Amino acid sequence: MNEKKQFIAAAIDGPAGAGKSTIARTAAKELGFIYIDTGAMYRSIGLACLNKGIDPGNAGAVEALLPDIAISIVFKDGEQHIILNGNDVSDDIRTESVSMAASRVSAVPAVRAFLLELQRGFARENNVIMDGRDIGTVVLPDAQVKIFLTASPESRARRRTDQLAEKGIQADYQAVLDDIIKRDYNDTHRETAPLKAADDAVLVDTTELTLPESIDAVTSIIKEKL
Ligand code: DC
Repeated sequence: MNEKKQFIAAAIDGPAGAGKSTIARTAAKELGFIYIDTGAMYRSIGLACLNKGIDPGNAGAVEALLPDIAISIVFKDGEQHIILNGNDVSDDIRTESVSMAASRVSAVPAVRAFLLELQRGFARENNVIMDGRDIGTVVLPDAQVKIFLTASPESRARRRTDQLAEKGIQADYQAVLDDIIKRDYNDTHRETAPLKAADDAVLVDTTELTLPESIDAVTSIIKEKL
């Protein structure tokens, strides 16, 4: 018998700072799924542009750089690490300048096409929780579970400022909020694969939820489909 194994895919989309990655990573651990952070892939391309002195908003220049970019994902102790041209850039991609560069390059259609197959490949061979902006709408439109995770811009900015403070980085709340609003605008207004909830997504608003409550909400939605 050559029956294809049916894998489960849970797509989690939502705006920057809604807690997607923390929630998805924890839920994946609990369920024994692999967690794929697609934002890290856009961030790596943003970083590659900054490293080469290329304006991330210059679509032609960004597209011309793609043949020189190799991105892969490896798992060390169950954690995703992202490798850009042979270097582990998992930490380097977490700066504010890379966030903004990622948002700019993600509007370039050739960049989205470049990452699509890499992303779909994981779901063909694993039970996955994949988070991003267009997972339920474009990358995995047949995912069994689709969740749109959101929270007010103010609560996302507050959490981000607190997270940075925990790392010893003093960030200005208003600057973080402005950044989130700008990224939301970029992500929802681009022509290719803009951020939006899939018609069949379950909306989870974490504004009034603690992190454990948010993880619980997401895990229960996925478990219902198992
Ligand atoms: O989730 P994140 O903040 O790491 O994502 C970084 C940027 O990448 C974000 O501004 C939008 C973009 N992105 C995207 O366009 N599509 C995805 N599936 C994931 C991220």
